[in-house]
Amino acid sequence: MTSTSGQREIVVCRDGAELAAEAAKRIVAASQSAIEQRGIFTLVLSGGSTPEKTYSLLAQPEWVGRVDWSHTWFFFGDERMVPPADLNSNYRMAARALLEAAHIDPKHVLRIGTDAATPAECAKTYESQLRAFFAGHGVTGLPQFDMILLGLGNDGHSASLFPGMPALKETASWVTWSRPGMLPPPVDRITLTFPVLNAASEVMFLVSGGGKATIVHKILEGEAAGDKYPAARVRPASGKLVWMLDEAAGNLLKN
Ligand code: 6PG
Repeated sequence: MTSTSGQREIVVCRDGAELAAEAAKRIVAASQSAIEQRGIFTLVLSGGSTPEKTYSLLAQPEWVGRVDWSHTWFFFGDERMVPPADLNSNYRMAARALLEAAHIDPKHVLRIGTDAATPAECAKTYESQLRAFFAGHGVTGLPQFDMILLGLGNDGHSASLFPGMPALKETASWVTWSRPGMLPPPVDRITLTFPVLNAASEVMFLVSGGGKATIVHKILEGEAAGDKYPAARVRPASGKLVWMLDEAAGNLLKN
């Protein structure tokens, strides 16, 4: 089932497998159109168990040839303050599920470094890397990523933008840091900010499981959700917003 209003599309898939396949199809389509138009595809990866299934699928032999990886550049929406080889690292998850499995050139992967002394320094360093990358491609203002993948937490967070945290108010920086909120592991996070998320050409949420049904309903059909739930504030100004759900996550939606 698909419903579209304005720039927002809600797609409800039968189950997690269909969700992963539908998301992978859209990543392939976005990559083809970006590479055709501008010669590169910039893809921001998310942490979380739902995106991981999509990454693993894209690395399968029948999918891997559908994206021109040599013209694709990978970035991260958020990272936990752990080393890249740590079990809790978002980079590690994406590397194992997709980047290593699909033999992506490591030079095309801009991960969020976590080796500086503070998360604030890590955020600054990542922002400088992003600015340098985009400046090298002729962009000086906010970066317009071709596609940003995001997950959704039960508390309404996305990336590492947690309810009530100061990171939600950041408007000047592209990257900031946050205390972890309720989400394990209890380590600080580095995260892209709303201005960057909302400047993307396309943002695709990947959400599965009955445990997410209430928050999905509140965000997509509740009143004044934006004030309370960070994920509701992700609304690309001129880009496309897709909420990709499985039936369990979408089962409280009325429309
Ligand atoms: C992280 C994430 C976070 C995640 C959601 C949903 O670092 O954990 O980037 O925002 O995407 O918590 O995660 P699940 O898909 O595992 O529920």
